Amino acid sequence: MAETPHYNIVFLDRATIGVPVRQPNFPHSYTEYQETVADEVVERLADADIAIINKVQVRAPSLEKLPKLKLIAVAATGTDCVDKAYCKAHGIAVSNIRNYADNTVPEHTLALIFALRRSLVPYVLDVRRGKWQTINQFCYFDHPIHDIAGSTLGLIGYGALGKSVGARAEALGMKVIATDLYDFPGKVDLDTVLKESDVISLHCPLTEQTRNVIGAAELKKMKNDAVLINTARGGLVDEKALVEALKSGEIAGAGFDVLTVEPPKNGNVLLDADLPNLLITPHVAWASVEAMTGLSNQLIDNVEAWVAGKPRNLVLE
Ligand SMILES: NC(=O)c1ccc[n+]([C@@H]2O[C@H](COP(=O)([O-])OP(=O)(O)OC[C@H]3O[C@@H](n4cnc5c(N)ncnc54)[C@H](O)[C@@H]3O)[C@@H](O)[C@H]2O)c1
Repeated sequence: MAETPHYNIVFLDRATIGVPVRQPNFPHSYTEYQETVADEVVERLADADIAIINKVQVRAPSLEKLPKLKLIAVAATGTDCVDKAYCKAHGIAVSNIRNYADNTVPEHTLALIFALRRSLVPYVLDVRRGKWQTINQFCYFDHPIHDIAGSTLGLIGYGALGKSVGARAEALGMKVIATDLYDFPGKVDLDTVLKESDVISLHCPLTEQTRNVIGAAELKKMKNDAVLINTARGGLVDEKALVEALKSGEIAGAGFDVLTVEPPKNGNVLLDADLPNLLITPHVAWASVEAMTGLSNQLIDNVEAWVAGKPRNLVLE
């Protein structure tokens, strides 16, 4: 009788997923590391048949020293951490996670929009600091509050997440306009988005064409009471120009989940600015418990499917 194959699985950056990861349903040994730095990759994967990674870089110089490796299961959609050309040439399968963020990213985007349009954070901070307790009326109006309903949302990038944000915004009574590279009914150009929107939200990838797609000139074209949301990628907005625009009142606020360098260990102009109308979250738009659980299940589904000889979500077909 043929021996049941036994697989050695090594997860290099387990700390990047904040929910349990189930054990696969086939004979295996499993080692996980919370995090892995570049010069630990080869040593840790030396005996692995299957590597699980999220953001650790696994490039050709490492892969050349890992002849046993057969599958890299990436715990994210983006697989730029893996040298895919090398994997393709050497028969290493690469799988990724798909369509897990359809609720979590749009909901985070809407949370930032609501918070900024209604000046939620300035009012909460006021109350915490004791301001309400010092005034004579039942309320006060130091920070402007604007309704979501009736306002115009401009989307830059009308793919899966842009569309999902747009559908939710329409349900809230917003008028939605969008620009993208491809044609669709009602498409507008970037200039129209900049000039007509009360809220602009970015949902395009970072490419050479989209780097600094919002710079000083674009910020000038926006309405003075408009807010800018970026839950897509750091680098889409010129961060220095944004600080200037917020300080000078060129735009009313910004909500960012992404920065040009993450984590911002060496500081960042947006973090240094300390502005009440600038809300920054640490790249967590994807990270609802529900979305992470879906991602975690899909990750192991991918590994089990590959071992069963029916691979799914392969990046290299
Ligand atoms: N913050 C987070 O946690 C988080 C989580 C998931 C995804 N994201 C980011 O969200 C972004 C959108 O994801 P998606 O799933 O909707 O991707 P998608 O590929 O479905 O949509 C992206 C859209 O952007 C368009 N686009 C490309 N270049 C453009 C340009 N120059 N001008 C206008 N539009 C352009 C594409 O044509 C496409 O329709 C990605 O950058 C992704 O990395 C962030």
